[in-house]
Amino acid sequence: MRRGTFITFEGGEGTGKSTQIRRLADVLQSRGIDILTTREPGGSPGAESIRALLVKGETARWDGATEALLLYAARRDHVERTIKPALATGKVVLCDRFADSTTAYQGAGHGLDRAALAGIRAAAIGSFAPDLTLIFDMPVAEGLRRAEARGGVENRYERMGIAFHERLKKEFLDIAATEPARCVVIDAARDMDAVARDVEVAVLKRLPHD
Ligand code: TMP
Repeated sequence: MRRGTFITFEGGEGTGKSTQIRRLADVLQSRGIDILTTREPGGSPGAESIRALLVKGETARWDGATEALLLYAARRDHVERTIKPALATGKVVLCDRFADSTTAYQGAGHGLDRAALAGIRAAAIGSFAPDLTLIFDMPVAEGLRRAEARGGVENRYERMGIAFHERLKKEFLDIAATEPARCVVIDAARDMDAVARDVEVAVLKRLPHD
């Protein structure tokens, strides 16, 4: 049974999601709220192994359909072994990326057929979906600059070219417009404190009150 709240954080490269999740986690914990922070691809031992196949190596390593299958294999494991058990104990689960990233990256980015994606999703996780999704939005060039400054080897997607990233940005905003009850767009180009305030307001509004 699902008693907790499942919140996902979405957006392009370098939009500051991970930093804001850490800040939000501190705020919620200081209010005595029981949380779990996790991420995709990954979030369970099996899914973390699949992550390494996806985020490293040549940009053309996989085609869009293969990527989607790998992502949903990882997502199923993550949902079944990490997310659902946490929700069943009443936790607030904060997840860095989820299914909207596949719609954006593999659908809009790589041009994968939407019906095919919906079929893979249904087979992997059924109708399981977030209660709330925060979509971090900022100009593509700024996000890529921040992502590049961060460095590291998990940059296979960062190297995909500006047109790819513009398609992602548009897709995330389209998702938010299509599902306004689930999604809140966060203007992530502002200073970190202003972004954190908006994140906190959006999340506290959705959490059950005593
Ligand atoms: P991260 O940089 O937010 O940790 O995400 C890892 C990369 O994986 C990022 O470049 C986006 C990509 N990705 C997809 O392409 N599709 C997905 O469904 C997910 C969850 C991530």
